[in-house]
Order: sequence, then C-alpha cells, then structure tokens
Amino acid sequence: MIETTTYPGIFSTWKGKRKLMLTENLTPGRIFFRELLWSENDKEYRVFDPRHSKIAAGLAKRMRFFSLKKNDAVLYLGASHGYTASFISDLVGKNGVVYCVDIAPRVVRDLYFVCEQRENMQPLLADANKPEAYTARITPVDVIIQDVAHRMQVQILLRNMRFLKAKGIVYFSVKARSIDSTKKPMQVFRDVEEELKRSLKILEKVDLSPFERDHMLFVCQKK
Ligand SMILES: C[S@@+](CC[C@H](N)C(=O)[O-])C[C@H]1O[C@@H](n2cnc3c(N)ncnc32)[C@H](O)[C@@H]1O
Repeated sequence: MIETTTYPGIFSTWKGKRKLMLTENLTPGRIFFRELLWSENDKEYRVFDPRHSKIAAGLAKRMRFFSLKKNDAVLYLGASHGYTASFISDLVGKNGVVYCVDIAPRVVRDLYFVCEQRENMQPLLADANKPEAYTARITPVDVIIQDVAHRMQVQILLRNMRFLKAKGIVYFSVKARSIDSTKKPMQVFRDVEEELKRSLKILEKVDLSPFERDHMLFVCQKK
C-alpha cells in the first residue's frame, strides 16, 4: 500500500522489510533509469533510491527542511544523466521547471533524451562556473540543487546565486575528497560552512552516510 509521508510529493511503501520512497510518475509508462515502478489507484509511482541520489539520501536521513513543491522553478547544477533531476521533475509537476546544467557532453546526450520526454526539464550543456552562458535561458528559481563534485564548488554556487529568488533554498552536496583529499572530511565541511555562511543562512547539514561516504548535504537559504 502506498502511503503519504511528511514530505509533500514523497510517498512510501514496503517491499518485504525494506521501506521504499516514491514519487508519482509524471510520464506514466515511461522510465529512463530502470527504476522500480509501483501502481495503485490508477497512479504510477517510481522508486527514488537513496543509493543513487544525494537528495534521496538526505530524505532517507530525515532532513528537516525539504521545500520542493508543485510549480517550483529549480536550477540543478551537475544534473548528469538526469536521475535525481527526473524525480525533482515529478515533484514540481508539469507547471514547474527544472533547468538541468551539466558540463559533460556524454552525460548530456542521455539527459537530452530524458528531457525530450519530460517537458518540464530543460537541458543545458554548460559550465556552471560560467553562468553568463545560460543567463538568458533561465528564469529566477525557487531552489538551487548543486551536485558537481568539483574543487571550486562553493564559488560555483555563489556565481549562480544571481538566479535564486529572495529566501530561496539551496541543496548543496559536498564530497570532501573533491575539495581537498589531504584534509580530514570534517575539516573540509567546516571550511565549506565558513565560506557558505558569508552569503547564506545554513538551515541544516545532513551527513549522507551510509548512502554516500564523506558527503555532507548543506541546506541553505538566501539571506
Ligand atoms: C556526482 S555527478 C551528479 C549526479 C546527479 N546529481 C544525480 O544525482 O543524478 C556530478 C556531475 O557534475 C558535473 N560537473 C562537474 N563540473 C561541472 C561544472 N563545472 N559545470 C557543470 N557540471 C559539472 C559532472 O559532469 C557530473 O555529471
């Protein structure tokens, strides 16, 4: 049986002893990542796997601030093939939009295929470090999700803050080793927090273990 959760748009069900998270499929009958499907009351749901998505891992770790909702505009930096972005597309619905930026042509080829089927996803082959390249192609957004695993990831985020509406929310995933493999992860996270604090209010930090090792999800708000 599918049940609602405290997170709007996120559902749950049991498969044996495993509790699964689901979203309602915006494109019933069509999936792109071999995700498990569940059907009930003429609705189709897709399993959102915390082992494949840092946002799903944050939800599985019971993050307190989860703001994504119907009709939101989202800028997703580091969208890759579009796995997590496709679930964000389910959450914001057909009147929302997810701008999906990635620098790697190989993954963007797959991303284009997903976006062709999901009208609320817009693919952008671009370097998130140079937002001037896509300024004309996006509208102000309610939420920024960043998962670029890049040494300069704080600077990348700050350069993209121009797109975020006042009081908008940021989900910022940090992989300690991508920033500095010589420092202890906790030191890297402290340094990142100091940098973020100058421009953003930190609402929450979610350690993504055991789903991702040495990853922290920072949830922040534009001041
Ligand atoms: C860990 S993967 C993202 C996975 C994705 N968020 C998901 O959950 O489905 C990181 C992605 O960041 C992209 N990336 C790295 N540097 C980037 C940059 N400067 N601009 C845009 N994308 C970048 C990589 O090409 C890669 O696809």
